[in-house]
Amino acid sequence: VTEAFSLWGIPIKYLSLLVLVVQNSALILVMRYTRASVPEDQLYLASTAVVMSEVMKALVCITLLYFAPAPGKRTLKKLVNNLNRELILQWRETLKLAIPAGLYLIQNNLQYLAVSNLDAATFQVTYQLKILTTAFFSVLILRRSLNKMKWISITLLTIGIALVVLPRNATLSSFGSFLTQTTLSDDRSDDMTDAVDNVGNQSNVKGYVAVLLACFLSGLAGVYFEKILKSPVVKPQPKYTRFQSVNTDKENSDDATSRKSSVELDQEDPLNAMEDEGVPQSAQVWVRNIQMSMFSLLFGLVFVVALQDGRKVVTEGFFAHYNALTWLVISIQAIGGLIVALVVKYADNILKGFATSISIILSMLVSVWLFNFIISGPFVLGAALVIFATRLYGM
Ligand code: C5P
Repeated sequence: VTEAFSLWGIPIKYLSLLVLVVQNSALILVMRYTRASVPEDQLYLASTAVVMSEVMKALVCITLLYFAPAPGKRTLKKLVNNLNRELILQWRETLKLAIPAGLYLIQNNLQYLAVSNLDAATFQVTYQLKILTTAFFSVLILRRSLNKMKWISITLLTIGIALVVLPRNATLSSFGSFLTQTTLSDDRSDDMTDAVDNVGNQSNVKGYVAVLLACFLSGLAGVYFEKILKSPVVKPQPKYTRFQSVNTDKENSDDATSRKSSVELDQEDPLNAMEDEGVPQSAQVWVRNIQMSMFSLLFGLVFVVALQDGRKVVTEGFFAHYNALTWLVISIQAIGGLIVALVVKYADNILKGFATSISIILSMLVSVWLFNFIISGPFVLGAALVIFATRLYGM
């Protein structure tokens, strides 16, 4: 993926936002279905699903790194060298990713908790509060100054979302009927909705607390990741360079190294030895994701074993109650992570928030066709506001 990449004339910035809209809608709908359509004792472990999506993401990133356009021949040795250099030799850079990895890990688990306890529409809308937390952290951490126009668009967006959702009877219950306890009298009520309808034991308070915490973490982690992605990589200086004369102080020192030729020294320092290789700038985003996945995997497994579901994993297995749909959720989440990384690289976190707001409207429009969702006046006004706010922010 290069800076100039575009498809059908759409620049990657907008393309990634567009794909994010679709991914976001699909993720919540399928995730909610998998969490709500079976009794609690037959649920897959969310904590293991989070780990699996990290595994999937890391594998995809390694593949993308391998195929990234770079001078010279593509070889496995080169890939291993690059991974060694980026992940291990430059361990200081790698370590920076531990923070967003930890924050995202908790956020991902909270997202499952929230989606298990709130209907999809309520979750999607309350989760939009992350636009505010993201704006807040962008100002705080990235020292981004948002002009009056941008603040106005963020406020309009929040009002727009509220309008889309507030008339609960007209909107939420219809849209959410797919994913809540409301019974559909419609002929189109299928097995899927019936199964969902039967589910009880959800706690709204738990859901709201989870979603609020997730908003906070989403804003913080996203902005932190953006900061790392957009700041230059500090490469450790090789101990010696080709141009450094090692013989200048030869007379003053009997240190053995000073007598070695510069070429020998080049080969001794692993960073020097791989001087001609290296990850092209356009593929750095994949390296960042692999670095982050390493920590997410580590923390995720600790989370599974020590904190949450260790006993269940031992008695029932890591993949207990997994089915095709579970793997679908895991894949959509992994793809989402990759798209988010691209969006953060080519656009920014706040624009990402706007894209997901549009995905709410899309989900609701889909539910007009699927679930007889009735479009109300406030919905139209709210949707128009969201679109207007997005344009305004883009300007
Ligand atoms: O809700 P929000 O947009 O903050 O979620 C971002 C999602 O993208 C999280 O699930 C996070 O794990 C994922 N992500 C990722 N890799 C990145 C950045 C985000 O997997 N580099």
